[in-house]
Amino acid sequence: MNLEEQVKLDNIADTDHEIFALLKQRYSPRTFKNEKIKKRHLLQLFEAVRWSASSNNLQPWRIIYAEKDTEAYQLIFNCLSDFNQTWADNAPLLMLTAYKEKKDNGDENFHALHDLGLCMGSMTVQAQYMGIGLHHMAGVNWKKAQDVFDVPNGFHITTAVAAGYYGGKLDKLPEDLQKQETSKRERMPYKQFAFKEAWSNNKK
Ligand SMILES: Cc1cc2nc3c(=O)[nH]c(=O)nc-3n(C[C@H](O)[C@H](O)[C@H](O)COP(=O)(O)O)c2cc1C
Repeated sequence: MNLEEQVKLDNIADTDHEIFALLKQRYSPRTFKNEKIKKRHLLQLFEAVRWSASSNNLQPWRIIYAEKDTEAYQLIFNCLSDFNQTWADNAPLLMLTAYKEKKDNGDENFHALHDLGLCMGSMTVQAQYMGIGLHHMAGVNWKKAQDVFDVPNGFHITTAVAAGYYGGKLDKLPEDLQKQETSKRERMPYKQFAFKEAWSNNKK
């Protein structure tokens, strides 16, 4: 097996119960194929976001995206944490996500962050369908990003996202991250978050 195949195949989730293949195959890569995302695939990613559910259909999500070798890509990259800067420029596409904080009547939209997460979930599954991996990042200086991109008041930058086709070379990563890329993926058992009929006593 060559390195590219290894990156693709070694991260399939070891599930307790069978799940939808796209969910099982998904993981957050830090190395990507050296290939631009096709325009039609990019449009499909945004189409998946468009048709996501949102509270009152307010669609509070906003996304800034930029392809590699553009000034905007570099600007997004410069907002990433030091750690994320060690790998994120392997991605041919970087994004910033944001949500609109208020409803049109001025009330806080408590569910806006939920809806942003939900639409990015839709984008993640659509991406997987096309062989594209997304790597969501909290490690972004959101205040700097708001400033650099002149984001208007009332919108809150939330994450950065690196995106590209799976199949990147492992040697594009520092050694410790090469290990992580193919290491065993762990999850808590469902009983720790899904409580039958009453809140669980488990304080974790
Ligand atoms: C909102 C969010 C923020 C994240 N922030 C970072 C980050 O800043 N840097 C990073 O390398 N990974 C980040 N991740 C990736 C997680 O570490 C990863 O999803 C988790 O370890 C599970 O691995 P998997 O996605 O490969 O299943 C983030 C994921 C999410 C959903």
